[in-house]
Amino acid sequence: MKKTLKILVRVFIAVLGLTVVIVVAAAFYFNSNIINSEKRSKYKGPDIKEITDKDYTFRDLNRNDELDIYEDARLSLEERANDLLSQMTLEEKISLLKGSGMKSGMGLGPSDEGVRGAVGTIVPIPRLGIPAIILSDGPAGLRINPTRKHEDKTYYCTAFPIGTLLASTWNVDLVEKVGAAMGNEVLEYGVDVILGPGANIHRSPLCGRNFEYYSEDPVLTGEIGAAMVNGIESNGVGTSVKHFVANNQETNRNFNDVLVSERAFREIYLRGFEIIVKKAQPWTIMSSYNKVNGTYASESHYILTDILRNDWGFEGIVMTDWFGGKNPPAQIQAGNDLLEPGIKKQHKALKSAAQTGELSEEDIDTSVRRILKLILNSRKMELYSYSNDPDLEAHAELTRQSASEGMVLLKNDGALPLKGQNNIALFGSTSYDFIAGGTGSGDVNEAYSVSLEEGLKNAGFEINETARKLFEAHRAVNEEAFEKPKGTLAAMMQPYTPPEMILSAEHVGQVVGTADVAIVTIGRNSGEGGDRVEKDDFLLSADEQEMIKTVCQSFHAAGKKVLVVMNIGGVIETASWKEEPDAILLAWQGGQEGGNSVSDILSGKVNPSGRLPMTFPLALEDHGSSANFPMEGAPMSLMSMLSNKKDKPAEELIENVDYTKYDEGIYVGYRHFDKKNLEVSYPFGFGLSYTEFSYNMMDIKVIEGNIEISVQVENTGMVPGKEVVEIYVSKPVTEIDRSVQELKAFAKTSLLNTGESTEVTMRISLSDLAYWNEGISGWTLEDGPYVIHSASSSRDIRLSEEIIF
Ligand code: BGC
Repeated sequence: MKKTLKILVRVFIAVLGLTVVIVVAAAFYFNSNIINSEKRSKYKGPDIKEITDKDYTFRDLNRNDELDIYEDARLSLEERANDLLSQMTLEEKISLLKGSGMKSGMGLGPSDEGVRGAVGTIVPIPRLGIPAIILSDGPAGLRINPTRKHEDKTYYCTAFPIGTLLASTWNVDLVEKVGAAMGNEVLEYGVDVILGPGANIHRSPLCGRNFEYYSEDPVLTGEIGAAMVNGIESNGVGTSVKHFVANNQETNRNFNDVLVSERAFREIYLRGFEIIVKKAQPWTIMSSYNKVNGTYASESHYILTDILRNDWGFEGIVMTDWFGGKNPPAQIQAGNDLLEPGIKKQHKALKSAAQTGELSEEDIDTSVRRILKLILNSRKMELYSYSNDPDLEAHAELTRQSASEGMVLLKNDGALPLKGQNNIALFGSTSYDFIAGGTGSGDVNEAYSVSLEEGLKNAGFEINETARKLFEAHRAVNEEAFEKPKGTLAAMMQPYTPPEMILSAEHVGQVVGTADVAIVTIGRNSGEGGDRVEKDDFLLSADEQEMIKTVCQSFHAAGKKVLVVMNIGGVIETASWKEEPDAILLAWQGGQEGGNSVSDILSGKVNPSGRLPMTFPLALEDHGSSANFPMEGAPMSLMSMLSNKKDKPAEELIENVDYTKYDEGIYVGYRHFDKKNLEVSYPFGFGLSYTEFSYNMMDIKVIEGNIEISVQVENTGMVPGKEVVEIYVSKPVTEIDRSVQELKAFAKTSLLNTGESTEVTMRISLSDLAYWNEGISGWTLEDGPYVIHSASSSRDIRLSEEIIF
């Protein structure tokens, strides 16, 4: 017996020892190959001397006491990059093609230049005095760690409104201002490139990352995205427009193969990116994880070189999404210049491909030259002395203003703005625990976030105590579920969704006597790594439906109004319950000032002027894409991001997981609902105001390949307000299958006083009316009549006129 025990103890010790060795070895491997893949000497910035030669002062970056072409900031980027390239070894060039691991971005790698919480780098070249370039997320604000060990100082960033809300402003000037403020934080915190904005199309309401993206329409996506890029980059920092391209689901995001027709690809999925590239020429673009028609986006020469560079004239660099794609030499050959965050295996693969000649030095040089231009153009090269102290107060004010401008009033039966109602009963967990933005890398570490409750209090309203106590009791019994996950990973694996209150008529009965009005908030949260599902997410849960019903019954019986506030990041079902409340405000996720922004609208301080950037359907299955989308969702798999998964044999492929057929073609969003003549809950482009507008006149001129459309708009209501004029174009007589109408331009008026009118002018290029002709693999402009509509929503056409080419 004793002997058996001894043997057991020995076996136990041996197994324990072996486990420790394996864990340590795995940690070492993980650290040195994936987290921190580069061993380099520290950046030698400080010992670089300034030299003055013939009245010109330069930094002697390579310490040769001479002025090299690349050190001469008076010369063109092309000349300087070529000179720098000529001084680099092959090893240095290969190093530059991939980041040096996640740690380096955070300043924990061999170069100590990172910023805590940043996620990647372009590696430094100390021998030539070239600094590391720091990359960090986006897109709702800069994402870095707010605190640092042994420091009292904080590094909070502004949580701006989510992308979808910004698109709902339909206000490019405002979005550019938001971009300028965001870019200022990027600059002042020492980051060089922010990983955003996101420009994927909302193909299905269920994509978990829709909140980071703008719209179901490519023109709205492109115009808002271009404004954002121009705003951010006006600070001398870069953007990375992502995820290029057709990354419209999160389920199996690293390997999903998008099977899409060339026409839908060009007209819908590429078009928004094309507008951004042509109007804003972003510093970088991030290729997406997925495949398109069998080839990883990051390995597609067709997408990254033929289309992006040759057709559109993109001049910047393309970087992978984190750990994206499989074949590093193929990525470089395709035109994907930078592999992020960079792992050792990629370095080895590139090196050996360079040695065997599989990867030509010319291809390497092409990518390296582009990367060098970005570095030479950066404020880092100028030794910009960042303050770590951006004006967060001013940015918070801009956040408040832009969020209220993008909130969409969906229904108002005389309930808003509030007049004389002071005591507000708040129902729904998110009224007290308002959601500022989505989860995952698109989340921001903000210093504070204003809940609806706080916002209303700040505006001078009284919060009903009895209703508040009901919520507190609910939170007390669900204490654990109200604990927010700590860190990006935890939030990604399990987005924070606290349980909803279960309200009986008796509960609400206790409140109604002391309250003047009720607000029911419906909250949703989602993010990177997972898609939403229909049950209890797209659809309201039974508890939520009950809550709306019970509150409406009790309050209406007492002659009091009920408002519903939707604090959501993606579309939910509204048709089955929208008749019940008196007003519905789609507040989206408005960033850190969300509660104040909602209060500004409820109190009438701001007249709502947001418009839907997507359709709210009657039912999920009404969407063309619902026939081919992973409706079941799937848990996020971290390991799948890192694994070099082999392609499965064809017979094992699972539909909507391994591949997704975009059978609906160009019929995405309103294009589908219009074509099928389907009733919707709220149409694309819809949004109410506290005032009314009339469209008095439309004038159309065709000048040198452009159609110029001027529309006269008058505020005919009782309060000042802003109107969005939407221009749709139809081609009733056509030889091809076409959408009933397509958005081609839009404009937002300034704040018009009652009785004031203004003229807005928009321009459409004739080539914007062309369709992608698969027969000739090119754009074709049909001649004959077109009809131009000026509209207040896609289903509220005010003026139409025919033009003939
Ligand atoms: C996301 C990107 C993000 C990157 C770096 C990836 O998982 O898809 O959007 O920029 O991580 O955090």
